[in-house]
Amino acid sequence: MPVELYRDDHHACLMFTDLIEEDGQAVQSNQFLIVDGDTGAVIDPGGNLAFNELYVGMSRHFSPHKLAYVIASHADPDIIGSLDRWMTSTSGLLVISRVWERFAPHFTKVGKTDNRVVGVPDGGGRLPLGRHELWLLPAHFMHSEGNFQFYDPVSRILFTGDLGVSMLSGQQAKTPVTELAPHIRFMEGFHRRYMVSNKILRLWVRMVRQLDIAMLVPQHGAPISGAAAIRDFLDWIETLACGIDLFDERAYQLPQTVIDPHSRRTAPVLRAVGG
Ligand SMILES: [Fe+2]
Ligand SMILES: [Fe+2]
Repeated sequence: MPVELYRDDHHACLMFTDLIEEDGQAVQSNQFLIVDGDTGAVIDPGGNLAFNELYVGMSRHFSPHKLAYVIASHADPDIIGSLDRWMTSTSGLLVISRVWERFAPHFTKVGKTDNRVVGVPDGGGRLPLGRHELWLLPAHFMHSEGNFQFYDPVSRILFTGDLGVSMLSGQQAKTPVTELAPHIRFMEGFHRRYMVSNKILRLWVRMVRQLDIAMLVPQHGAPISGAAAIRDFLDWIETLACGIDLFDERAYQLPQTVIDPHSRRTAPVLRAVGG
């Protein structure tokens, strides 16, 4: 069952947290549906693992040909691996950074994306959705080079993509976090490795502090809800050293280690605390 992040008579924001099998192979991820009247959009619909249930969930609210957009924060497989199926089963437009506009068609069969890609310029914009507009906020290098976050002024939810993510189970991801301190250990390893630099985080915090935000909702793990936790998150991420801040010549040595292709282990950065 999806989590209802917001609902009024005409508008709803739903989050799906547990559509993929939790066997440790594929990282837990969230998919989102925004409904406004008899139309809507899916945000970061994910890979093929999530398609069926998300499609059925959407069909409960409006018929697939009323889907306005498939909106992608960036072009990773856990974001739009299922693009071929969305382009086949609906008439929605793909909304994605111009940086990825001509790469995304590699996810689909030939011709499926013809005249159906809205390439978003680096500065972002406001996208009409039903009777409202969804704000496409620049979030480049967090972590992807062409990356957007989505602010819904009706629910005051900021969908943050891979920023603010935590490594939790699909069940744990359903419950919003209202106190940041005990939650940092589930976020820190990921952010230190997947975010590109502290300079970018500071620029983003400066922009986002101007918004009235009820909830930060990431694409992995639990939402961060309430003024105190959001303020603490902005303060934490603003000073976090990450990515190229932490890399020096030690990370660029000719390799000596022989990889054993038969040993199987989860990537350390995806564990709760991280490497
Ligand atoms: Fe990603
Ligand atoms: Fe992701």
